[in-house]
This record gives sequence, C-alpha cells and structure tokens, in this order.
Amino acid sequence: AAEDIKDPKAPAVRPPLDVAFIGPPGSGKGTQARRFADKFGVCHVDMGSMLRSAAARNEQFKASINQGRLIADDPVCELVAQQLDRPECDPGILLDGFPRTSGQAAKLDQMLSERRRSLSAVVQFDIPDDVATDRITGRLHHPSSGRVYHHSFQPPRVPGRDDATGESLTKRPDDFPDVMPRRLAAYRDLIGPVLQRYSQAGLLKRVDASKPADSVWSTLQSLFKSG
Ligand code: AP5
Ligand code: MG
Repeated sequence: AAEDIKDPKAPAVRPPLDVAFIGPPGSGKGTQARRFADKFGVCHVDMGSMLRSAAARNEQFKASINQGRLIADDPVCELVAQQLDRPECDPGILLDGFPRTSGQAAKLDQMLSERRRSLSAVVQFDIPDDVATDRITGRLHHPSSGRVYHHSFQPPRVPGRDDATGESLTKRPDDFPDVMPRRLAAYRDLIGPVLQRYSQAGLLKRVDASKPADSVWSTLQSLFKSG
C-alpha cells in the first residue's frame, strides 16, 4: 500500500532509548535523571517516588522505605512492567534506581526482551559514602513532584519553598543520619552482581558522581553523544 512506502526525507525512527541509573542514595541519580529525560525525550521512572506513592496504600512498603530497606523484587518488578507499557514510555525509559538486585536485573532483561526492547546503557554513579551522606542529610524534597534541593549545594530560590509551585519543602522520612547507614548497606550488599552482569554485557558506563552537578551532567551528555 502507498502508506507503506517510506519517505526518504522522513526522520529515521529511533529505537527506544532504555537506560538504567544505578548508584547509592545521594549519588544524584534523580537530579541527573530529570535533565536526561528532558534532553533525550524519555520517560523518567523514579523508583523511590513511585514506591512512596504505592506506600500510601501499603504499610509494609512504608515501613521498608522509612527504615531504608528494599521492597521485595516481585511487587517492584510488577510496577516497572506497568511503566514499560505506558505509551509515554515508547520512546524510551529511564529507570532511576532500578535494578538494585540480581533478581530485578534478570527480570528487567526478560521484561524488555518480551517487548522487543533492550537496555542501551547502565550508568553507575560512583560516590564515597561520606559525600553521599552529606547530600542526603541536607536534602529538601517536594513530595508531589519529586523535585529535590539541597540547603547549600542546590538551594531553592525562596528558603523552604519549591521553585515551581511555591509549596512547602519537606525532609524525606528516610533522610536522617540514623537511617543512612542502612540505606547504604542495602545498596552495597546487593549491587555487586548487578554491576558485574552489565559490565560483562558491555553496557556499564561509570561516572564520578562526587563532582558538581553540572560537571556530572557534561560527562553524561558526552557518554550518550558518542553512544
Ligand atoms: P530512592 O528514592 O530511589 O532513594 P535512593 O536510592 O536512596 O536514592 P535517593 O533518591 O535518596 O538519591 P539520588 O541518587 O536520587 O540523589 P538526588 O538526586 O536526590 O528509594 C527510596 C526507597 O525506596 C529505598 O530505600 C527502598 O526502600 C525503596 N526502593 C527504591 N528502589 C527500589 C528497588 N529497585 N527495589 C526495592 N526497593 C526500592 O540528590 C541527593 C541530594 O544531593 C539532593 O539534595 C541534591 O540537591 C544534591 N545533589 C545532587 N547532585 C549533586 C552534586 N553533583 N553535587 C552536590 N549536590 C548534589
Ligand atoms: Mg532519587
């Protein structure tokens, strides 16, 4: 049929750009993910925000998050599958904080392959624990949008208020020094095999996440420009 004949001047349809950002709490995944999703036109799935919304109806989720423990793989993967099936995510998906266990990684590869998709890259955000802890304890959070600020590194224009809405900023209940060691351990204890899997697949890209946010952003853009 005539409509099947390709117009040579039509822009080539890009395959979905599916990317995962992996790193400890406070490594700046969310900060960079917002910019990345905007620039590359992919949908940003912030695992923490999504699970905090689900926790409003699930006491077990709420307790795990507030205590800095991971939620079980099955319900987490189920929520990711729902995101993959949103039409807004057809151009690509940026998974911010997923996969965090080898079970989640295996399931993700399977879910993508069932949809004839595959990861383009996995970005590992490297940062020492003490730098990450300073960032988390100074973070301010706008619950309804997920936007984050830091009282000294990224202050809001009006103290205590979200730049876009003027609404109050809060502290996340897991952003306190006593919870942070558990969150760091929940990351470090389980991430090794995930990183190994993607390193062996040639997909792993590492960034020095302890640099200032604009410098991390330049690195990320150069990694994705060159493929
Ligand atoms: P989640 O919300 O994903 O928390 P996290 O992984 O601990 O990471 P954060 O969101 O705290 O940090 P971030 O790397 O996004 O840093 P940000 O950009 O905000 O998960 C919460 C909980 O949900 C988990 O503990 C678990 O219970 C559950 N969960 C989530 N994923 C799960 C999964 N896959 N499986 C099971 N359970 C799961 O930046 C931090 C601060 O630093 C901000 O104040 C920011 O302004 C500032 N900042 C950012 N970059 C810079 C920079 N370069 N220089 C200076 N300051 C910076
Ligand atoms: Mg985050």
